[in-house]
Amino acid sequence: TDIELGDFEHYMLKEIFEQPQTIENAMRGRFDEDEATAKFGGLNLTPQQLRRVDRIVLTACGTSWHAGLVGEYLLEEFARIPVEVEYASELRYRNPPLTDRTMVFAITQSGETADTLAAMRECKRKGLSTLAICNVVGSSIAREADGGIYLHAGPEIGVASTKAFTSQVTALVMLSLFLGRMRHLSYQAGKRIIRSLKAMPETIAKTLECHDQVQEVASRYWNLENFLYLGRLYNFPVALEGALKLKEISYIHAEGYPAAEMKHGPIALIEERTPSVFIVPRGGIYPKVISNMEEVRARKGPIIAIACEDDEKVAELADEVICVPEVEEHLQPLVTSIPLQLLAYHVALLRGCNVDRPRNLAKSVTVE
Ligand code: G6P
Repeated sequence: TDIELGDFEHYMLKEIFEQPQTIENAMRGRFDEDEATAKFGGLNLTPQQLRRVDRIVLTACGTSWHAGLVGEYLLEEFARIPVEVEYASELRYRNPPLTDRTMVFAITQSGETADTLAAMRECKRKGLSTLAICNVVGSSIAREADGGIYLHAGPEIGVASTKAFTSQVTALVMLSLFLGRMRHLSYQAGKRIIRSLKAMPETIAKTLECHDQVQEVASRYWNLENFLYLGRLYNFPVALEGALKLKEISYIHAEGYPAAEMKHGPIALIEERTPSVFIVPRGGIYPKVISNMEEVRARKGPIIAIACEDDEKVAELADEVICVPEVEEHLQPLVTSIPLQLLAYHVALLRGCNVDRPRNLAKSVTVE
C-alpha cells in the first residue's frame, strides 16, 4: 500500500499510536459554541424528529459491535433512551419490533461489511431512518445511509481494528451527549463531559507510555494458551474487545466476560497457566471488581491488571499491573482498551505471527 509506515514495524502499531490524533479528529468541529453539547451536521433529522426517538438500535460486527456495547451504556445513561445492540448477521434475519420512533445506527469502520449493509437495508425497507457511524468516506454503507457520522480516523490497514474502535467510542460519547442534552442532561453536565473529552488526546498520549510495561508483561505470558479478560460496566465491552484482539492476531484462546459472571462458568478454567486480565480502573464499582480479583487469586490464577496509578490494593492482588491515567467512568474504554491492543500486538509478535495479516481473517468481510 502507499500509506507510509514511518518508524513503525507494523501498521497495527502505527495505528495504535495514532490514537491521540484520531480521537481528536473524531471530535473536531463537533462541539457547539458554548461547549456544553455536541453538534452533528450529517444526521439529517430535525430536532423534532430527534426528540421523538424512543429507541435506538445499534448494529455492527466484530470490533464495531463492541463499540456499540459501549454506546448502549452511554446512550442509556446520558440520553435515557433504551438501546439494543444487535449483531448485524442476526438482525438481518430477525424481525424485531421497530417503529417510526426507532433510530438505527450501523457502526462500521469499512462501510463494506456485508452483514451490516444487509441489516441496514432491511431496516430501511421497513421505513426507518437508518444512519451510519463509519470511517470510510463514500463506502457502500455511508452512501446508502440516510445520514450519519464520519470518524475521520484515516485508513486503517491492520486487519485487527484499533484506532477505529476508539473513534467509534468517541463518536458515541458525543452522540450520547447530544441526545442527552435534548433530554435530561444539564448544561453543567454537558460542560463537564466536553472538558474531559477535550483533554482526551493528551490523556491517550499519556496512556501510550505504558508501552514498555506492556511489552515486558507480554514477554512473561506469550507462550500460554488460554486467557480470560474480565471487566464490569463500561469495561465489560473492553474485556470482550481485549480478548478479541488476542484471538485475532496471536491465535490464543481468550474469553471476555463481565467479571462477576465468571463464577457461572469461566472460573472453572482458572489455574496456574490461565491468566486473567482484569480491567480495574478506579471508579464505578471498583470494589466489586477487586473482590472478583480475590476469587481468581484464591484459585492461583495469574492476574494481569489494567489499573490506575498508585493503586496499592491492585498491586497487592495482581502479578502484573499496567497503569493507565484516571478518567471519568464513561470515558474509561478509550483509555483501558489501549494497553490491551498493545498486549495483543506484543504477544503476537513473540509468537511469530503476522500481526497485520492474521490467518483466516479479512479487513472487511464483504461476503455473507
Ligand atoms: C472484520 C475485521 C474486524 C472488524 C469487522 C467489522 O472481521 O477483521 O476488525 O471489526 O470486520 O468491520 P467493519 O468494517 O464493519 O467495522
